[in-house]
Amino acid sequence: ALAATKTRSITSMANEEENTGNVKRELEKVFDLALKATVRNETDVRPLIAACTAKFGDYQCNNAMGLWSKIKGKGTEFKGPQPVGQAIMKNLPPSEMIESCSVAGPGFVNVVLSKNWMAKNIQKMLVDGIETWAPKLRVKKAVVDFSSPNIAKEMHVGHLRSTIIGDSLARMLEFSNVEVLRRNHVGDWGTQFGMLIEYLFEKFPNSEDANETAIGELQEFYRRSKNRFDSDPAFKERAQQAVVRLQSGEPKYHEAWAQICEISRKEFDKVYKRLRVDLEEKGESFYNPYIPGVIDELSKQGLVEESQGARVIFIEGVNIPLIIVKSDGGFNYASTDLAALWYRLNEEKAEWIIYVTDVGQQLHFDMVFSAAKRAGWLSADDSTYPKASHVGFGLVLGEDGKRLRTRFSEVVRLVDLLDEAKNRSKAVLIERGKDKEWTEEELEQTAEAVGYGAAKYFDLKNNRLTNYTFSFDQMLNDKGNTAVYLLYAHARICSIIRKSGKDIEELKKTGSLVLDHADERALGLHLLHFSEVIEEALTNLLPNVVCEYLYNLSEYFTRFYSNCQVVGSAEETSRLLLCEATATVMRKCFHLLGIVPVYKI
Ligand code: ARG
Repeated sequence: ALAATKTRSITSMANEEENTGNVKRELEKVFDLALKATVRNETDVRPLIAACTAKFGDYQCNNAMGLWSKIKGKGTEFKGPQPVGQAIMKNLPPSEMIESCSVAGPGFVNVVLSKNWMAKNIQKMLVDGIETWAPKLRVKKAVVDFSSPNIAKEMHVGHLRSTIIGDSLARMLEFSNVEVLRRNHVGDWGTQFGMLIEYLFEKFPNSEDANETAIGELQEFYRRSKNRFDSDPAFKERAQQAVVRLQSGEPKYHEAWAQICEISRKEFDKVYKRLRVDLEEKGESFYNPYIPGVIDELSKQGLVEESQGARVIFIEGVNIPLIIVKSDGGFNYASTDLAALWYRLNEEKAEWIIYVTDVGQQLHFDMVFSAAKRAGWLSADDSTYPKASHVGFGLVLGEDGKRLRTRFSEVVRLVDLLDEAKNRSKAVLIERGKDKEWTEEELEQTAEAVGYGAAKYFDLKNNRLTNYTFSFDQMLNDKGNTAVYLLYAHARICSIIRKSGKDIEELKKTGSLVLDHADERALGLHLLHFSEVIEEALTNLLPNVVCEYLYNLSEYFTRFYSNCQVVGSAEETSRLLLCEATATVMRKCFHLLGIVPVYKI
């Protein structure tokens, strides 16, 4: 009777929190209880659960070895890690998730999941929606600082990478119910505005004439004003005065500045619109008024020192200090970033601030974050909030192996690059006769989804830190690990369901899903990994983890589809549901990568 009571209370504890759809989390809950029952005196033992890589099971608990080294010599009854593993297994509360367990090697507890439980969970997701499989994070509000080009300077492929990676991370956070402030930290402040404004006054004495078309491409305008600045000392003098007058808020100067920013903004927006990326601009200028107060606060804490006329913060382990006030008294990139970080933490109450830039800025961010830790703004320990993370990425190379620069270096060129991806996929669709089958609108939309999707996926599928070589041919290949292949795979699944003639919404409610065939079970297990994969991608801020998962999903599906007849089979209902679950998870992956799915091909 006692045992029964105990069991009941344990299971009711295990059921206390509702099922999260995250298998790893669910197993953590049951193993947590087993661990507590195994070593009562060790209080800070956290369950280590991982998907199995070998064939012994679906998941494994890896605690035994670590536990053994903790308790041995402390008069424990156990004789080694293996018996610890055995005890953990024996102490597992009954759980409908688990079909069977075994202990291997030095105490690894392997778990075979119950296929009924697996099937029930997948069907539940189909009924309640994929949102029920969203990771549960401890953070409520985050800032993703991404894209962030500089006014009147080039928006280069690096900014495109930042836009694509940042958007994907923001989407994953949003999916996980985190409130995300999508921040475009544009470089809209600095000494270059002096010469830009002076040049504007010179070219357009009547400010009304200074419109977008008259000014033309801003980068060209920038180059010409820079030439003027370098060659004419009187102009240079006026330009330097203009900075001062702009900073002191003189209306005429402020208006000219705003005008230049507006033109840049329109050019950037062309890229964002094509990519369907949402961003809210809060440029460097926004944080300007906060800088003096922030430097004051840091000074009061004794963090700021004088060095060669500048005011700096020394960072442990770094030779050069972080300059926060230049020797001429002016502020710089770091002063702005400190003020922005302060604002995001204190005014916007964000707990996780994520910065997406090329790896070249790693040191800058490391130093800013270290300063913020010293000031007590950020948690000293990166496993707790508030925290800041730098998401660095590598270069995009041309076919010549050199940095892809000149050809696509300009804003307009970035738009051209996206247009080319779209036009190429449109040509392929026409070649396949889709122009006769579809409306013009369908053709356009599909070409866009495939073309832009291909460009995004080609960027996201690599570990962001590695450089990659840009190639239209590779990204638009319909075989291999490309968005084209995956979008087609998704469209094919949709067509299987359509052609069955069954009402899938009805089947979700009335039908039942089973995973009897080995390939059905393997596909089902991969589907169930979804939540923990997204959580992993977010923990390490690596969108390529999602790409890899998505590609493997299509492989598991292919295996299932070639070995299990769907339409017309005795298992038709169940298998259609498995098709629908696969399509649903694929679509969510596309969504998280910023790719628009395609339903027919
Ligand atoms: N404007 C910078 C650049 O083009 C990127 C800004 C990144 N964000 C930041 N808070 N510093 O390199």
